[in-house]
Amino acid sequence: MRVTVTYNIKKEENLTNLSNFKNRHNFKHFINKNLLNNYAERIDDTFAEWDSFETIDAIRNALENRSHEVTLVEADINVCENLKASEPDIVFNVAEGFWGQSRESQVPAILEMLNIPFTGSDSITIGICHNKARCKEILSYYKIPNADFFIADTPVEKKNLKFPKFVKPLHEGSSKGIYNSSIVYNLEQLNSEIDRIKSNYNQPSLIEDFLEGREFTVAMLGNNDNVKILPIIEVKLDSIPQDFPNIYSYEVKWFFDTRENQLDIFECPAKIDSSLKERIEKVCMSTFKSLQLRDWARIDLRLDKNNIPNVLEVNPLPGILPDPRDNSCYPKAARTAGMNYEAMINAVLNEAIKRYKLNEN
Ligand SMILES: Nc1ncnc2c1ncn2[C@@H]1O[C@H](COP(=O)(O)OP(=O)(O)OP(=O)(O)O)[C@@H](O)[C@H]1O
Ligand SMILES: [Mg+2]
Repeated sequence: MRVTVTYNIKKEENLTNLSNFKNRHNFKHFINKNLLNNYAERIDDTFAEWDSFETIDAIRNALENRSHEVTLVEADINVCENLKASEPDIVFNVAEGFWGQSRESQVPAILEMLNIPFTGSDSITIGICHNKARCKEILSYYKIPNADFFIADTPVEKKNLKFPKFVKPLHEGSSKGIYNSSIVYNLEQLNSEIDRIKSNYNQPSLIEDFLEGREFTVAMLGNNDNVKILPIIEVKLDSIPQDFPNIYSYEVKWFFDTRENQLDIFECPAKIDSSLKERIEKVCMSTFKSLQLRDWARIDLRLDKNNIPNVLEVNPLPGILPDPRDNSCYPKAARTAGMNYEAMINAVLNEAIKRYKLNEN
């Protein structure tokens, strides 16, 4: 088939900045959290969600190895013309977009307009998942457990708030804006985070009850009655340096866990008893269905104080770094299920091909 890959790529200068920064500091031994906080905030996380060329190249190889004819199209302002010119039978979409709250929906919406089949969820579902509060509203409607929340664009004066709370940007991913300071214990800290998120990311904060239990992430593959749950990953929060809070923050994701010094933070399959496994799977299946997810997704969850799995957030475009040393969750779960990168990419493509019934033409 003719497959076009749509993507956004990290710009060269950004990568150079990041690697210079990492070379200057050996993060494995970096245990002063205030110092790291400051450093991390100085690093520009604007492009944290975009892919590296290595990832796009790996997707291309995976598809070409199965005899597909592959064209790469960057999701820039010429995307519409370039997509038409590439004349695809189907698009493998990993574009995160750049401008606006609906940035991850833009390529899917264009593909819908052009009537071109594509992998993954439609523009509405992707847009809803990108806005974490909208997503939680739907989950709550279907009685799927998630932390109580409110939104604030400016400092709040509320009395009687129960702490700790967790504060994050309303519509970001890849831990953008989630630092060690995101867990807050009083009104002053809460308001300082709301200000930080407004000034750095120009958006409101989502303020949630802090979920104190174990954390998991679950990769899913398929459609309708045929959705597979890949081996569950536990994010082992106890492997985070001791004087750090119990969260999978930007500092941990991008600085402590590097290719050179891999942090042993994921356990796959997670060591959980069958009852917890069943409960996590049930929540994930209901989430997949209620949000009308398609082909693939990764769902992050945390247990509350009563050990009930709560959905943290839903990723309809999960990160897929190809190098196992990069500790990327979806490929890790796929590997544990016996799928290498090539098999994983083609499994996602084949789910979309089946869904559009393209193999019957
Ligand atoms: N309500 C909460 N209670 C406790 N911890 C939380 C809560 N919300 C988020 N976290 C912590 O912050 C981390 C990042 O949050 P979240 O998954 O919402 O952000 P993200 O940037 O969209 O992540 P991703 O990189 O998976 O796209 C979680 O993995 C978890 O450790
Ligand atoms: Mg997450």
